[in-house]
Amino acid sequence: MSDDKIYDVPAEWRQRAWVDDAKYQEMYARSVKDPDGFWAEQAKRIDWIEPFTKVKNTTYDPHNVSIKWFEDGTLNACYNCIDRHLPERADQVAIIWEGDDPKDSKKITYQELHDEVCRMADILRNRNVEKGDRVTIYLPMIPEAVYAMLACARLGAVHSVVFGGFSPESLAGRIEDCQSKVVITADEGVRGGRKVPLKANVDAAIAKVGGVDFVVVVKHTGGAIDMDPVRDVWYHEGAAVVTSECPCEEMNAEDPLFILYTSGSTGKPKGVLHTTGGYLVYASMTHQYVFDYHDGDIYWCTADVGWVTGHSYIVYGPLSNGAITLMFEGVPNYPTNSRFWEVCDKHQVNILYTAPTAIRALMQGGNDPVTKTSRKSLRLLGSVGEPINPEAWEWYYHVVGDDRCPIVDTWWQTETGGILITPLPGATKLKPGSATRPFFGVQPEIVDAEGKVLEGATTGNLCIADSWPGQMRTVYGDHQRFIDTYFKTYPGKYFTGDGCRRDADGYYWITGRVDDVINVAGHRMGTAEVESALVAHTKVSEAAVVGYPHDIKGQGIYAYVTLMAGEKPTEELRKELVAWVRKEIGPIASPDLIQFAPGLPKTRSGKIMRRILRKIAEDDFGNLGDTTTLADPAVVDDLVTNRQNKK
Ligand code: WT7
Repeated sequence: MSDDKIYDVPAEWRQRAWVDDAKYQEMYARSVKDPDGFWAEQAKRIDWIEPFTKVKNTTYDPHNVSIKWFEDGTLNACYNCIDRHLPERADQVAIIWEGDDPKDSKKITYQELHDEVCRMADILRNRNVEKGDRVTIYLPMIPEAVYAMLACARLGAVHSVVFGGFSPESLAGRIEDCQSKVVITADEGVRGGRKVPLKANVDAAIAKVGGVDFVVVVKHTGGAIDMDPVRDVWYHEGAAVVTSECPCEEMNAEDPLFILYTSGSTGKPKGVLHTTGGYLVYASMTHQYVFDYHDGDIYWCTADVGWVTGHSYIVYGPLSNGAITLMFEGVPNYPTNSRFWEVCDKHQVNILYTAPTAIRALMQGGNDPVTKTSRKSLRLLGSVGEPINPEAWEWYYHVVGDDRCPIVDTWWQTETGGILITPLPGATKLKPGSATRPFFGVQPEIVDAEGKVLEGATTGNLCIADSWPGQMRTVYGDHQRFIDTYFKTYPGKYFTGDGCRRDADGYYWITGRVDDVINVAGHRMGTAEVESALVAHTKVSEAAVVGYPHDIKGQGIYAYVTLMAGEKPTEELRKELVAWVRKEIGPIASPDLIQFAPGLPKTRSGKIMRRILRKIAEDDFGNLGDTTTLADPAVVDDLVTNRQNKK
């Protein structure tokens, strides 16, 4: 054993959990030795209409990447999340909804969920939404978001959920990319007491791209909005004139289930495409084992359904397992810093899954807002989105969990569909800051820059050697981009874009992105996207964006901006540019610091040397590395002298 701090598996966990260490070892060995046998068995957790006869059919050959699981089986994801539970669970709660205002909450049973989903599906069906059509969902964290996703799955339509924090511009790009003819939205969202004009944003987005035949609008706040009498329909009015029955479409395992856009190294977000059978098997299995979910447990994932975490671990994983899933509309610090813990007490939450950025923000508010609540119901804690620093881990463990709850630090990505590296609470000793060991069927490899696979304790880039059922299948409409992004850097392997260390115990420690993607408060942001927003401003001639360490967000956005000739760098312009990026992409892309730079460091061939910009933003001046290839070394001195102070 190394000298890292280690937390043993508590004895009661070893006994009650689905998997102890011996079972983990045995199952893991089988999962990589005999993937067909292993996954055929696991796939029994799902109800198939036509059973599959083939299990794994995948190749990472960069000339012809093709990923198919259970390819001749048929099923319906919505049926698996609702209908099949009804004989036993019609009156069991499926969703506990907690509103932004602590006075608002409600419970939705599996029967009610069935009825609402069928109504939503009927509204779509009556307007000719069919198998394969794309439907954009732009909703706040209200149960209707789940109804909308599952209604699409019921009809075989492909949902594309767009996070409510994205701007009309970003929404328009996503509607256009997948040629969505339908949008489901709400009048307004509310977060931390502040309204978000969702319907107005949809109107603005459609004005830009067109092609949308109709918009379903959920009345949520009752705020005043414009309704187009031909194009727009209120959900409650549409629901009143349909029945609560709607048949489930029979889908092939490899039919698309959803698209989710995510930022990459280039300016344009990628439509990550997940299919039905493999995704559902994987989401369901990981939800059960990683969170050690048992019947009746109250499970709360604080993510938004606009991100993959919400898809897999608020909706598809828990509901396919017949679980009770809590959905929270608000934010961790509203009305007070005790909100998370009050919600845990109010609904007797047993399993809490949240993000390091939320933990760090709450940690800054001190222990009192936590310790004044009971939290006795909590049994397990989870973390996701970015590396969790050991200080935040220890606080989460000791203060929030009262030294009683294991923490599962789960590493995965939008592309992976579900958790790939994680402790299992009954099996894995914990080390604060490490995502620990691979889940069943997952074969991590650490490679050096040349692609050589490194053995033992080592550091390098994280790849996965072979496919797992939850893996994305393609970039919507651009299979070549899928291949180029993930399978070309290290031919024959899936490249994650993350750096990673493996210690002497075989534990994995994710060190963060090694590409031009930054992780801001657990949200992935392509620096190129922020750069193209900045240069779209008439006063900006050039921009380069990098991440820098930020106490709460993990990484902050640092933008170097060169202005058009004759423009003056003023405080006012700085504010204008921040507001501009918010408007272009959304508040999550707001630059934290903008440095006006007369010139950017470039090679003689004109390539921006980001390495240097990163070092300056990180305050690492002594270590700028080789600057001899710069076209004009003087620009670096100016950049160092005028570096913006961190907040
Ligand atoms: C990137 C994926 C699917 C999770 C939500 C974010 C980082 C995610 C961890 C973790 C260290 C993590 C990685 C990854 N990341 N979880 N537990 N430890 N890093 O999904 O937006 O697709 O981002 O988030 O850098 O590549 P995403």
